[in-house]
Amino acid sequence: MTDQAILVTGAAGFIGFHVARQLLAEGRTVVGLDNLNSYYDPALKQARLDLLRAESRFSFVKADLADRGATAALFARHRFAKVVHLAAQAGVRFSIEQPQAYADSNLQGFLNVLEGCRHNGCRHLVYASSSSVYGANTKLPFAVQDRTDHPVSFYAATKKANEVMAQSYSHLYRLPVTGLRFFTIYGPWGRPDMALFLFANAILAGEPIRLFNHGRMRRDFTYIDDVTRVVSKLVDRVPADDPAAANAPSKVYNVGNHHPEELMHVVGLLEQELGRTAVKQLLPMQPGDVLETFADVEDLMRDTGFAPSTPIAHGVRNFVTWYRDYFKV
Ligand SMILES: NC(=O)c1ccc[n+]([C@@H]2O[C@H](COP(=O)([O-])OP(=O)(O)OC[C@H]3O[C@@H](n4cnc5c(N)ncnc54)[C@H](O)[C@@H]3O)[C@@H](O)[C@H]2O)c1
Repeated sequence: MTDQAILVTGAAGFIGFHVARQLLAEGRTVVGLDNLNSYYDPALKQARLDLLRAESRFSFVKADLADRGATAALFARHRFAKVVHLAAQAGVRFSIEQPQAYADSNLQGFLNVLEGCRHNGCRHLVYASSSSVYGANTKLPFAVQDRTDHPVSFYAATKKANEVMAQSYSHLYRLPVTGLRFFTIYGPWGRPDMALFLFANAILAGEPIRLFNHGRMRRDFTYIDDVTRVVSKLVDRVPADDPAAANAPSKVYNVGNHHPEELMHVVGLLEQELGRTAVKQLLPMQPGDVLETFADVEDLMRDTGFAPSTPIAHGVRNFVTWYRDYFKV
């Protein structure tokens, strides 16, 4: 027997928390897994978990996916029919300092999830990839069919590796897999290492915000509620055999807003919402960074009838409202 519960890995993380909450709101049962690591303040992860734990259909497992035995035991115990795998070591910049953390969570951990799915009758694995797989591509918007074999960070390399690892398991074991290339997700309960959060911290502290490439960057900022909607639709949509993917039930989608924003415009919106002016420190381009991201979401629209579209001004306002409430500022 397979378990009716959906496994959401990285459930104490930004996207995993919101996805778990959405699935619970739809009446589903969720097992959330996380190792609660201290890449950023674990108190924020605990606070997210506290909200999830208030739901009777939620249970939590603290485990490290890089632990082969623990992961195999969990999958054998539950035999999850559906798995949403969002746990990973995220962050482009940190991958330059600590590549081993990425190998452990994103390569070994990912393989352990694939093995768990393979041996226990999983009928659909949805997993997080990233827009960073497009590297320094200049053809815009980024389309799923474009080349993605020139990553400019080790983080991106691990995300590309995940896509090809998933493809091989889909082909070999007929495991249905759906990969989601997320484009700069932001919103309430967001990630403290990402630009919007760092900027809000600095602006309120009167400290300079660091703008790389002198602020000349564009990002396809994607609001979290749009992402949870995409995941909730796709979790029930098992991909068909794809002739372009060795006839495997395997699919990759861009999950982006299809609307790149100038970084300076986003800073302006933050200043407006916070009622303070940012001290801007203009810096050169950083290794691993890309100039622009822009998602082609045609496939997503065609297959789900939905694509993210929350305007940035609305999303930034909601982020600031949450930030003020959470930090009492
Ligand atoms: N937020 C974005 O803009 C964005 C963009 C592209 C891709 N992604 C991907 O989406 C997924 C979710 O990202 P997020 O922004 O919520 O990040 P996050 O860091 O907030 O969440 C990831 C969670 O996974 C957990 N985790 C990490 N390694 C683990 C392991 N070995 N075992 C168990 N748990 C582990 C962490 O403790 C964390 O709570 C990640 O795969 C990330 O690479 C995110």
